[in-house]
Amino acid sequence: MDNALAFSAPSERNKQPILEALRPLLPAPGRALEIASGTGQHVAWFATHLPRWRWQPTDLTDELFASITARCAALPNVQPPQRLDVCATPWLDAEARFELVYCANMLHIAPWACCAGLMQGSARHLAPAGRLVTYGPYLEDEVPTAESNLAFDAGLRARDPAWGLRRREDVAQEAQRAGLRLATRLALPANNLLLVWERAS
Ligand SMILES: C[S@@+](CC[C@H](N)C(=O)[O-])C[C@H]1O[C@@H](n2cnc3c(N)ncnc32)[C@H](O)[C@@H]1O
Repeated sequence: MDNALAFSAPSERNKQPILEALRPLLPAPGRALEIASGTGQHVAWFATHLPRWRWQPTDLTDELFASITARCAALPNVQPPQRLDVCATPWLDAEARFELVYCANMLHIAPWACCAGLMQGSARHLAPAGRLVTYGPYLEDEVPTAESNLAFDAGLRARDPAWGLRRREDVAQEAQRAGLRLATRLALPANNLLLVWERAS
């Protein structure tokens, strides 16, 4: 791979476990919107292995769009990356609908208001039976937090007091306000969770 491409070692490690968790959720063809695409490693991997899905990568800024574009150059099922701020309304275009909204590792590296933005925007843009999938480290009331996640949380808060690991229960409350509910919680390697959110009714 071209060394000039932006690269994330954690993304490289977690893309296959996430793909395995996504597969049973995505049996039929559909449209997927990726929020906070970063380097594009996830979207390139998923689009390669789930070719019947049409993927739209996005991010807050276009800083890494060259990497996303280069990684996805040979993938006809990936649209050019677009700028998308989860707190903005609408996302892309008011009529846009997706069977999957996928967002990895954003909630803890963004202000808390982005959680409401993610939930409200997903509720607006998910197709009727669509799902929001979030992935990353969380705090959970009933589950002891791994030392590595506590250290990660402290490091994030030192970098920016508005950042930090989120309580899954707080995220669920924002989901509920948007009309979504937690349908599935999967524990993935390295103390990360994959959470599947659906419409509450
Ligand atoms: C740690 S990176 C995660 C990248 C990729 N999803 C991954 O898991 O490797 C955090 C991402 O969140 C994005 N982000 C932060 N605030 C955002 C916002 N308001 N709307 C959309 N994306 C945002 C950043 O631009 C960055 O790409």
